[in-house]
This record gives sequence, C-alpha cells and structure tokens, in this order.
Amino acid sequence: MSKVLVIYDSRSGNTAKMAEEVAAGARLSGVEVEVKKADESKPEDLLDADGIIFGSPNHFGSMSEKMKAFINDSVKVRKKMENKVGAAFSSSGTIGGGGETTVFSLIQAMMIHSMIIVGDPLDATGHYGAVGIGAPDDNTADICRKLGKRVGDLVKRLA
Ligand SMILES: Cc1cc2nc3c(=O)[nH]c(=O)nc-3n(C[C@H](O)[C@H](O)[C@H](O)COP(=O)(O)O)c2cc1C
Repeated sequence: MSKVLVIYDSRSGNTAKMAEEVAAGARLSGVEVEVKKADESKPEDLLDADGIIFGSPNHFGSMSEKMKAFINDSVKVRKKMENKVGAAFSSSGTIGGGGETTVFSLIQAMMIHSMIIVGDPLDATGHYGAVGIGAPDDNTADICRKLGKRVGDLVKRLA
C-alpha cells in the first residue's frame, strides 16, 4: 500500500494540530499515513514513504531548528528520495510574518532531494502549501486536509 509520512516540529502545539489535519486528509485517499515529530524521526523513515509532508512553525521566516536538524541529517538518504511526492505546511504568529517563506524553506529542501512538489489544490485558498496563524481554525484545518488528500491522491496515481 502507498504511504504518506507527515514529519513536523511544534513548540507550542499549533503545527502539531495542523499535522493531524493534514494526516486526516491523506487518509481520505486510502493510503497508509504516519505522523512523526522531527526530533523522534530518523532519515531512514523517509525511505518507505511515497509521499512526504513537512510541517514547521515559522521561526524568523524559516523552518525551526529541529526541522532543520532533521533535514540536514537526511543528507544520508539523499540519493534515494527522487520522485517522492512532497508538500509543506506552517504555523505563524501573524499574517505577513513569513508563513510562506517558511513553507518555501521546507519545499527547497525537498527540491534538493529531487522530489515532486505540490502546492494547494485548486479548491483550497492557498498557493504554496497550508499556512495558518496560531492554532488552525476551521478554514486552515480544511486547507490542511485538502493538501494531505492531494498528496495521497497523487501518490496513488503514481503507484
Ligand atoms: C523562536 C521563534 C521565532 C518566531 N518567529 C516568528 C516570525 O518570524 N514570524 C511569525 O509570524 N511568527 C513567529 N513566531 C511565532 C510562531 O511561528 C507561532 O507562534 C506558531 O504558531 C508556533 O507554532 P507551534 O505551536 O507549532 O510551535 C516565532 C516563534 C518562536 C518561538
């Protein structure tokens, strides 16, 4: 069965809540879904996933240090990541505070891994990935689920 892995960091719980919504959306595709914290994950966890969704709080417009540490460590599996489907989400403190640049910092790493990156589906309101302010409200939760489902659906199509 195809698998989607959600790896995230969260200091105060907001990105963690987004991760659960993203995972719920991916499950709607009928794929296996696993959710893990970055500091409890190892690079090898990435290998049996067909789709990988990274989430991070916005720390100064970029990913958190724990996400960065995990991604730096993933250089160990660098040659084995090509053509996995990737997407990203982030929680910020404020609109215009760097949510999209944080998503891009995660997407950039995925591109370096030669992954296939997807943004929000057309029926969501975002562009580059799910971005929320604080804990996800109903709208952000809906966007998270749609992003997860898009990754799940694409992983199944590519299988
Ligand atoms: C070290 C640090 C840096 C932050 N930098 C920003 C920032 O540049 N812009 C912003 O909008 N929010 C910033 N925040 C706020 C967090 O992104 C926001 O509270 C987020 O919802 C936290 O997610 P979490 O609960 O998953 O940790 C920062 C928070 C911390 C702790």
